[in-house]
Amino acid sequence: MKLFIDDANVKEIRRLIDLYPIDGVTTNPTILSKTGRNPIEVLKEIREIIGPEKTIFAQAIPVEAKAIIRDAHAIVKLLSENTIVKIPSIPEGFKAIRMLKEEGIHTCGTVVYTPLQAYLAAKAGADYVAPYVNRIDNMGYDGVQVVQKIQDILTLHNFDTEILAASFKNSNQVLALCEYGIGAATCAPSVIDAFVKNIAIDGAVNDFINDFAKAAGEGKTMYDLI
Ligand code: G3P
Repeated sequence: MKLFIDDANVKEIRRLIDLYPIDGVTTNPTILSKTGRNPIEVLKEIREIIGPEKTIFAQAIPVEAKAIIRDAHAIVKLLSENTIVKIPSIPEGFKAIRMLKEEGIHTCGTVVYTPLQAYLAAKAGADYVAPYVNRIDNMGYDGVQVVQKIQDILTLHNFDTEILAASFKNSNQVLALCEYGIGAATCAPSVIDAFVKNIAIDGAVNDFINDFAKAAGEGKTMYDLI
């Protein structure tokens, strides 16, 4: 499962890219607006931080196919290779996805709440579909189950499309989908940190440090002794 950062805070992106095996960054208009900065400057800075090899997702703003395509061209021009254009999975969006596929522009059908919405985006040629796990949970349905259903449909119908599951609020939601073998998850920094935020882990690491100090002296490492 690929792992993306669902955030546009450049300080947090720098921290996470440095620590974790991250595949790239996903954004949407809301995430960009939360920075309080010019969205284009933010996207350019994210590309500089992650380098040309990692993937960045940026969303087209319009809801009419011709204008979505115009935004997609602008986004790819700005961010170059390894850029995926997020497009809302609505009728005009499917049309844009289909036309961009013919041009070789990579897309993600986003704002996915239902399996058949994902099916249409995949059939139109989207590289990814992005279901919103926690938002589906908040509607009284089971977000994880909806994503699993989408994965079954993609597999059964031999689509090349991968799932980019989004809108996670806890690591358990991510775990359930990681176990199911979905293609990608995008998570806020706090959710990624929560994968390893555990008193037992910290306790075990501290025990090793303290036990070695008893044998070799306070603050000593292997390097100091060898
Ligand atoms: O990018 C879309 C998705 O991540 C939304 O997340 O937290 O706004 O539900 P959230």
